[in-house]
Amino acid sequence: MSTRIRQISQDEILVEVDGTKVITQSECPHRKGRLRFGVVNARRMSIICPLHQSSFDLRTGRRLSGPACGPLRVLVLGDEGDEGDEGDEGDEGETAETEM
Ligand code: FES
Repeated sequence: MSTRIRQISQDEILVEVDGTKVITQSECPHRKGRLRFGVVNARRMSIICPLHQSSFDLRTGRRLSGPACGPLRVLVLGDEGDEGDEGDEGDEGETAETEM
């Protein structure tokens, strides 16, 4: 399974897990940890914040574990080529890639 996190704007990241793309906020709702540097669990479809290790479901935004805080805002785009109006043309920041 391959995962990738890309910063697509100041406030948003694009998380890719195999063919599924999810746009979510770049800052953790707990204390603004930078989720671009988070760890994606492809099997659980979740992301872990690098600051205090809260885990969030990438399909729903729900916090699965870690310090109490609100959910992540998420927009699930689905498979490759199905980006709708949230495209990332021309505004790509640095990338972080991991292979699992
Ligand atoms: S900032 Fe993300 S868990 Fe604390």
